[in-house]
Amino acid sequence: MYAIEVERLTKIYGKGETAVTALSDATFQVRPGELVAILGPSGSGKTTLLTAIGLINEPTHGRLAIGGATIADEGWLRGLDLKKIRRERLGFIFQSHNLIPFLTAQENVMVALEINEVGRAEAKKRAGELLTALNLGHRLHNYPSALSGGECQRVAIARAIANRPQVILADEPTAALDTENGKNVMGLLKKLAVENHSAILVVTHDHRMVEGFDRIFQVSDGRIVGETGNAGSA
Ligand SMILES: Nc1ncnc2c1ncn2[C@@H]1O[C@H](COP(=O)(O)OP(=O)(O)O)[C@@H](O)[C@H]1O
Ligand SMILES: [Mg+2]
Repeated sequence: MYAIEVERLTKIYGKGETAVTALSDATFQVRPGELVAILGPSGSGKTTLLTAIGLINEPTHGRLAIGGATIADEGWLRGLDLKKIRRERLGFIFQSHNLIPFLTAQENVMVALEINEVGRAEAKKRAGELLTALNLGHRLHNYPSALSGGECQRVAIARAIANRPQVILADEPTAALDTENGKNVMGLLKKLAVENHSAILVVTHDHRMVEGFDRIFQVSDGRIVGETGNAGSA
């Protein structure tokens, strides 16, 4: 079974003369445990693709399935609880971290776990472990305002992966990080792909990130124009 399946996925913003086709006929599948990069210039449709798969941007045409279940087919299927599917199966990492300002780093991660009914003690333990793995063990009790941009991003990453989602979607997750922290983040994502069998889709311009990916999709003008296999050998 595929973790992600898209078939002729298309997104058109607006209508009539001002319509913009941001994504055209994207077709691909991602297996559990695969680490896939999406590379392409600004405005090429990368975020549109990611947010459609993330169930926050309704595709205009085509089919989308997550974990074998069809979610969209010429628009969202009726009667689905998209929020619930998102919460249980998907993890997001965006450019802006959106941390809750009045909660500490550890509490920000705990919220993601508690929302999925993980008990408080267990949530605290797991949040602490995850943050420590991301070199934030000394920052557990700090508020976002006391953290650097890179540290906030790593807290956001911990929050996104805390529930070990089937699918992790990341939009330029290392943009704000230095090389060492970027590599830590990548190492953790790879580990998640392998250990939790998560399918991971990462939008990036960052070549440090692409190394070690299973596949790389090249996007241009809303189309997937190329795919490269294992970047390690390129
Ligand atoms: N909400 C929107 N309404 C109208 N056009 C949009 C919207 N979001 C993105 N676009 C347009 O869709 C195209 C692809 O954008 P985007 O997916 O953000 O690309 P990328 O992430 O690769 O920079 C661009 O031409 C952009 O201007
Ligand atoms: Mg974008």
